[in-house]
Amino acid sequence: MPEPPRAIRRAAAESRSVIESGARQRKSDVVKQLEQLDAKIRACIRCPLHQSRTLAVPGEGKANAKVMIIGEAPGRSEDQTGRPFVGNSGKFLDQVLAGTGFERSDFFITNIVKCRPPSNRTPRTSEIETCTSLYLFNQISLINPKLIVLLGLVAVKKLLGFRTVEAARGRIIEHDGQKFLATYHPAVRFYREELAEKIEEDFAILKEEMKKL
Ligand code: URA
Repeated sequence: MPEPPRAIRRAAAESRSVIESGARQRKSDVVKQLEQLDAKIRACIRCPLHQSRTLAVPGEGKANAKVMIIGEAPGRSEDQTGRPFVGNSGKFLDQVLAGTGFERSDFFITNIVKCRPPSNRTPRTSEIETCTSLYLFNQISLINPKLIVLLGLVAVKKLLGFRTVEAARGRIIEHDGQKFLATYHPAVRFYREELAEKIEEDFAILKEEMKKL
């Protein structure tokens, strides 16, 4: 094919740089808005969970992550550090994430509720409603992920409406124009060892899917 004239090449290079700076601008706007949300979460007193928390855990990762990972609620280590999945469940999550060939920092990792429920009880419906409507749904729309990985029944119920993880896992699900992959919560490994294998199978699906994103 003959080279396009110089004027066309210059115009193409200019529009590429406008597009790139547009993308950079969008990213920095998203970073700013995520940081503002983060500050609101850390100061939140909108549900009773704030009374017993040490630190709220907004979530962490890439503002433009292609894949978002959503767990249930912070546990003891997360409450102490303000970071998601840094305790025993987090170690197993890191292990299965490493199998995808991506770094933990390539994802955005958060939870359905941002404060630890006392004694790690399941978050109540009212806590889930408050926290997702104020924070999680805003995080999802800012990050705009291509795929959301749901860890455990609380996340699966809230975002997909399934009554069991078993019914939702093992495949990519399209729901309201968003792709999801559901699996068991990494903590099941500590009381139902056989389910760890199913989590590994689901993360193998994630690995294949990430090649297409
Ligand atoms: N369990 C979760 O669901 N989230 C965390 O951040 C840690 C443990």
